[in-house]
Amino acid sequence: MTTPDLDRIRAFAEQVGGVITGGATTAMMVLGDRLGLYAALARSSPATSTELAEQTGTHERYVREWLAQQTAVGFVTHDATEQTFTLPREHAAVLASDDSPAAMIGAAPLATGLHRRIDEVVAAFRSGDGIPWAEQDPTIFEQTERFFRTSYRNSLVPEWIPALAGVHEKLTTGACAADIGCGRGAALILLADAYPQSRFVGFDVHEPSVVTARKRAADAGVSDRVTFEVAHCHGYPQDRYDLVMFFDAFHDLGDPLGAGAYARAALTEDGTLMLVEPRAGDDLTTTIATVPVAALGYAASTFLCMPNSLSQPGGAALGALTGERRLREVLVDAGFQTIRRVAENPFNMVLEAKP
Ligand SMILES: C[S@@+](CC[C@H](N)C(=O)[O-])C[C@H]1O[C@@H](n2cnc3c(N)ncnc32)[C@H](O)[C@@H]1O
Repeated sequence: MTTPDLDRIRAFAEQVGGVITGGATTAMMVLGDRLGLYAALARSSPATSTELAEQTGTHERYVREWLAQQTAVGFVTHDATEQTFTLPREHAAVLASDDSPAAMIGAAPLATGLHRRIDEVVAAFRSGDGIPWAEQDPTIFEQTERFFRTSYRNSLVPEWIPALAGVHEKLTTGACAADIGCGRGAALILLADAYPQSRFVGFDVHEPSVVTARKRAADAGVSDRVTFEVAHCHGYPQDRYDLVMFFDAFHDLGDPLGAGAYARAALTEDGTLMLVEPRAGDDLTTTIATVPVAALGYAASTFLCMPNSLSQPGGAALGALTGERRLREVLVDAGFQTIRRVAENPFNMVLEAKP
């Protein structure tokens, strides 16, 4: 038996330490987000811990410890002479607001939500049973809405819709579009805002998400043209839509093939199916080599996407990082004639399918 390589052990132990530090740091990020520490520091850097505590209505001793950790992890910088802390503008673009094109802070609650379902997922590994989306921790619904919206806001209206044949023109003059598995409505509200002549309806089985989506639409001033209804992906009215969309939801379904066939029957003859899915390669090696957030995607898939699919009839469990080849197979089996990959960004890829 060969002796283990001590340098490799040391290097790997450091790697694992970094991963565990990352996990702990996500908890500190959720604190910074919820307490408004990032936003305040973005407005008033450099600031002392006392100033930051005053601005956020928090206790200085806690804030000082939070700042020490954020300095240790490299998120903020520290001036030892002035005893001040700075959130660099480039870091603020990622941490201080959901409105930035580079926002990632909305992803931090994912770790909270995954940890809160450890026991259930351990049991699911043993039983093979599923866990419906509705039984996930509410931080997951928050994280999904906030993090996915950045990708949609950056790409949906400026890039993805124009990449679909003739869809921008139809939406501009007035079309009918449906979003299946709409969640809290992030994508559909962006579309309703951009295309006031069109009518939009979102369907989701998760009633609390539908209720939140309605509120978001009212807050955005688009309730006159977008509605949200509780419905299963095989159970919504097949009202002859010009456009049916799935945003990061198709792989979550127990029966994606059936959902695809149902959507095809709900389209007009010249209608379009738009499938927005996490960017992935066709196999593990390619996915790991080409998708920077692959490890995050497989974790979310294990805790959220596969369990939801396994909780529904069919239990296809495609997994979040299914890849284009498998998605095409499902769409062909669902009856679609032409399928094109029309766009992608760092997080998502977009397929267009025509009946
Ligand atoms: C990952 S979330 C994506 C939500 C939303 N599309 C977004 O991008 O923000 C998946 C959504 O699919 C919904 N869903 C799961 N199974 C469904 C089904 N069989 N029919 C309709 N919606 C379903 C869940 O309730 C959840 O809101």
